[in-house]
Amino acid sequence: MDGPSGSGKSSASRGVARALGLRYLDTGAMYRAITWWMLQQGVDLSDQEAIAARALGPVLTLGTDPDAPSVAVDGADVAAPIRTAEVTAAVSAVSAVPEVRRRLVAEQREIIGEGGIVVEGRDIGTVVVPDAPVKIYLTASADARALRRTAELAGTTVQAQKAAMARRDTLDSTRKADPLAMAADAVELDTTALNLDEVVAEILRLIKEKT
Ligand code: C5P
Repeated sequence: MDGPSGSGKSSASRGVARALGLRYLDTGAMYRAITWWMLQQGVDLSDQEAIAARALGPVLTLGTDPDAPSVAVDGADVAAPIRTAEVTAAVSAVSAVPEVRRRLVAEQREIIGEGGIVVEGRDIGTVVVPDAPVKIYLTASADARALRRTAELAGTTVQAQKAAMARRDTLDSTRKADPLAMAADAVELDTTALNLDEVVAEILRLIKEKT
């Protein structure tokens, strides 16, 4: 499952995994975790070479239970700190570096293994699992996406969220390495006018149709 920020990928992926008894992998959490670690280490994130040189630095551990997904860096739980505005603003600079992507894509493929998993990100259908049996590309209007994010976060406004998300989506879709893109064989699902239950139901229907 791919799509821009705020398109509802996390809630929908977890809902689908839960409904089908599958595992769940949030690849965005991996990019956020490595970004959090680089900020802690004082790595200059305007310097691509500095990021590349530290790409193998931390050990990441992902838990794939859709009811309790977890992410740890060098054994420490970082579920909360990777969601801060500081990490969100910095993550696109780190995820654009090919050495970071090479490392994380390899680890993602290892976790995915033989399948039985719902994976969410930006390049899952195009790069990580090009032979996935079902590929969904979630979208929603910029206003709907900003509204959802504003409801999730304290101390922000819809306008500020809309600007921050537009910036991140532009960086993610214009980078050279594995940009955010819809796979040619993905099904696009616009969630603007749908609630979570409707999105999950529609995806379950698509899975049934395709498998
Ligand atoms: O999904 P989430 O908003 O947590 O992702 C955070 C960031 O991680 C994205 O803005 C993007 O820069 C990066 N990312 C990526 N490829 C993925 C998943 C996330 O580049 N497969």
